[in-house]
Amino acid sequence: MQRQKKKVTVLTGAGMSAESGLRTFRDAGGLWENYSIEEVATPMAWQRNPQLVLDFYNQRRRDVLKAQPNEGHKALVRLESAYEVTIITQNIDDLHERAGSSRVIHLHGEILKARSTKDERLLYEWTTDLHIGDCCELGSQLRPHVVWFYEPVPMMEVAERVVAAADIFIIVGTSLQVYPAAGLIYAARPNIPKYLVDPMPPESPWLHDVQFLQETASRGLPKLVDQMLNAQ
Ligand code: APR
Repeated sequence: MQRQKKKVTVLTGAGMSAESGLRTFRDAGGLWENYSIEEVATPMAWQRNPQLVLDFYNQRRRDVLKAQPNEGHKALVRLESAYEVTIITQNIDDLHERAGSSRVIHLHGEILKARSTKDERLLYEWTTDLHIGDCCELGSQLRPHVVWFYEPVPMMEVAERVVAAADIFIIVGTSLQVYPAAGLIYAARPNIPKYLVDPMPPESPWLHDVQFLQETASRGLPKLVDQMLNAQ
């Protein structure tokens, strides 16, 4: 009889893709040093100056298309040989998918998709710049398929269930400053093994029983994955 695989839930943030060349948001030199959240990442910004918003996300899309998965993304794929792995990412890039991970939940949307502003179910694969005048089949302007500040996070409920079901929880490269995503850590069962991979781990009382790997994703994750595969 086949043993049921343990469930591993991985919560990733911008640090996961930093070594693929994608800038984080809140580190020194991060995106929010050069751009104002209020000007490019809110529904009000979109109302006020859609061109500026499109410019910001067009650059993000171009950067993602140039980037490649790093050794951290690849290590999480290897983990699937012995565990049931679900990745919950705050990242809008597709690097987990391109590395080969099979279950990826995007909390904050996907930059390689555009969405109707009239009917949010209308999604389109989008790999070029998005312009004013690019419309959905209903004739309304398309917007990047990303979650802006002050918008609901439709995948939260699913993500909470996945964290609550975890036998092992891994957090990688997130400052845990943005809610509701950061609140996911409280959905994990108390006595399961928890790991955090980050060269500058965030502080939180919740992290008292977490094992820290104070390393970058591309160095720390392969080690953690080897350790977990050897333990099987
Ligand atoms: N490997 C692992 N972690 C790293 C690396 C690396 N190479 N480089 C930086 N980090 C860590 C930082 O120490 C920090 O803890 O990644 C984290 C990045 O934090 P943020 O920039 O705040 O990114 P994130 O937590 O993903 O932001 C959440 O904020 O603006 C929004 O929507 C955006 O999804 C994003 C959300």
